[in-house]
Amino acid sequence: MSATTMKNVTKTEFDKFAAKLQACLRLHEEALKAEGLEDEVKELSEWIDQVSAGSVTVIEALEMHGPQNLLHLKERIALALEEQQRIAEESPAVNRKKDKEQGKYAAAFHDVSEALDQLIEASSSFNIKINKGDTGVKLVTPVEDGQPIDSGINDENRAEVAEALGSMLASTYSLYVKSLFYHWNVTGPHFHSLHNLFEQHYQDLHEAGDEVAERIRAIGHFTPGTLKAFGALSKVQDDDELPGSAEDMLRNLKKAHSVCAAEARKVLNIAEKAGDEVTVDLMVERMRFHDEAGWMLGSSL
Ligand SMILES: [Fe+2]
Repeated sequence: MSATTMKNVTKTEFDKFAAKLQACLRLHEEALKAEGLEDEVKELSEWIDQVSAGSVTVIEALEMHGPQNLLHLKERIALALEEQQRIAEESPAVNRKKDKEQGKYAAAFHDVSEALDQLIEASSSFNIKINKGDTGVKLVTPVEDGQPIDSGINDENRAEVAEALGSMLASTYSLYVKSLFYHWNVTGPHFHSLHNLFEQHYQDLHEAGDEVAERIRAIGHFTPGTLKAFGALSKVQDDDELPGSAEDMLRNLKKAHSVCAAEARKVLNIAEKAGDEVTVDLMVERMRFHDEAGWMLGSSL
C-alpha cells in the first residue's frame, strides 16, 4: 500500500469518527452545557470543522492542538462524572426528576467519551502519539532524589500519589493566576469587595500550592514547577482574554474551583488507597477551601 493510499484511508477514517463525534456533541449539547463545558465543546467543534473542510491537513491539525483538546474534554467529562457520582453518594436523590436528569447526563457523557476515544484512536494511525507526553512535559518528575523515606508506603504508591499531586498543583497554580488576573482587572460597582475577595483567594492558593509541592518532595519526588508543565497538566481552563464583566469573572472562578475540588478528590482517593493519610488530610483541607470559595463566589453573583 502506497503512502498516499494509506493517508487517504486514514483521512476517511478520521472523517468518519470526527463526524460521529460532532453529531454526538450536538446531540448532548444540553448536558455538556449544564456541566460548563461549552467552551471546550466549541473549540473542539471548530477544530473538527477545520480539519474536515481540509483547510489544514489532519497531520497539521493534530500537531497543532487537536490532541490536547480531545484529551482535555475527555478529562473534563471524566471529572464531571466523578463529581456527579460524589453528589449522588453524598446526598441520596432528593427527587426522581433530579435522579433521571443525572442518569441522562451520565449516559450522554459516556457516549461523548466513546466518540472521543474512537477519534483519538483514528488519529493515532497518523503516527502522532496522542497522550500527555505530546506536550513534551512529564506529568511529574518520577526521579527519586536519593533520599528514600520509609513511611510505610511502597515506592509505586508514592509515585502514584506524587503524580496526582503534580496535576493538582498545576490546577491550583492556574487558579492562583486566574484569581490574581481578576484581582488586578475587576471593575464595576462591587470593585472593592471583589478585589479583596480575589486577593484572599489567590493568597490561599499561593500557600496551598507551596504545601502541595512540598508534600510531593516529602514523599520523595521532584515537583513540576515550570509554566510549560503547569499549562500541560492543569485542568483549569486558561483565559484567552479578560472576561467582559465581573459576573463572568465570578462564573469562571466558580467553575475553576469546582475543577480543583474534583482534582483534590481524585488525589484523596489515590492517597487513601496508598495509606497516605497526610496527603488525605491535605486534600480534605483543599476541598473545604474550594467548596467555601465556590459558595462565596456564587453568592456574589
Ligand atoms: Fe493587590
